[in-house]
Amino acid sequence: MVIKPKESDNRTEILKDVDLSAVNTLGVRAVADRFAKIGSVSKLERLYQKGELQEKDVFVLGGGSNVLFAERVSRLLLKIEIEGIEIEEETDNHVIIRAGAGENWHQLVSWCVKNNFGGIENLALIPGTTGAAPVQNIGAYGAELEEVFYKLEAFDMRTGELKKFEKEDCEFAYRDSVFKRRYKNRFIITHLYLKLTKAEHTVECSYRALREHMDAKNIGNPEMPDIYQAVIEIRKSKLPDPADIGNAGSFFKNPVISAGRFSMLEKKYPEIPAYRVDTGRIKIPAAWLIEKAGWKGKRVGNVGTYKNQALVIVNHGDAEAAEIYEYAMNIKKSVKDLFGIELVPEVNLVGEF
Ligand code: EPU
Repeated sequence: MVIKPKESDNRTEILKDVDLSAVNTLGVRAVADRFAKIGSVSKLERLYQKGELQEKDVFVLGGGSNVLFAERVSRLLLKIEIEGIEIEEETDNHVIIRAGAGENWHQLVSWCVKNNFGGIENLALIPGTTGAAPVQNIGAYGAELEEVFYKLEAFDMRTGELKKFEKEDCEFAYRDSVFKRRYKNRFIITHLYLKLTKAEHTVECSYRALREHMDAKNIGNPEMPDIYQAVIEIRKSKLPDPADIGNAGSFFKNPVISAGRFSMLEKKYPEIPAYRVDTGRIKIPAAWLIEKAGWKGKRVGNVGTYKNQALVIVNHGDAEAAEIYEYAMNIKKSVKDLFGIELVPEVNLVGEF
């Protein structure tokens, strides 16, 4: 069954001096020296044959929802627009779907829920594209992409070949994969395959905010579409919509610290929230650290921290890239000074700051 055409071709050559304002959800003004839209694998092959795809020189852009561009970006930006969602295989209980890397992630989630395919409903409303999802192993409300990941196809800029990655090849971890480490700047993800349930869905409702939402709505035994609906409502209440106010979601990752370090902090701050990662390692919500350091709802010029979620940096108007960067670094410094914890950006910083 083909839902959309598999690939659309786009023969535009590399464009010069392209305004990036509309392709980053933070809404910063930036200009790319070189920019190309990629609607098909064959366009990648053509660029490769012309010698345009130099590993360290390329930056792959999906929905632009996880980047902070510097004013001028000298790398070749490839905006991935490979489309198509199709069913590869199905049994009574499972389905394997194949989606183009350029498909909007939330539209894919909605399509799955509508078709009664379960497994990604907790990841509803995450901005960005399908191809970006495995790069940082997107996660929210108790679920992570890796749980439904089947395989992916990616274009190797070193050899010009298309390579298949099985789950174990991706080395998934919290907001992390091999594509952020060893294979950074080498592979361009073109298609993602997910294995989803068609019956006997596993409903993941243990995340506190989800449980509270279900209690408030008197939903005793939530079903897969209830989770989808709840996640949408929670996200809308807590996270700003980039269409209204520029932002890139969580600006920093939640830091993981040692249990020893944690017990020292807990003595000083008994109310500190924490999640056990494994024996000896504890994850602390960066939002709590940032709020405690006094940044929640704060505004400096055009940049601020969102009033309902301290982990989200927002562009109140015409903020420049350098202003946002400086604001973020000031948050980082405050948290370091107060707690001795080093925050690491979750967004990609592209260009020279
Ligand atoms: N908290 C505060 N102040 C705040 C917000 C939260 O103290 O302003 C504390 C509370 O204790 C709360 C805890 O932080 O219980 C966790 O907050 P929340 O549930 O909002 O989640 P998060 O850890 O801040 C992560 C992801 C989000 C994802 C949510 C929901 C990261 C870096 N962020 O945020 O992902 O939507 O969980 O699952 O892991 C993103 O990656 O862009 C993103 C938005």
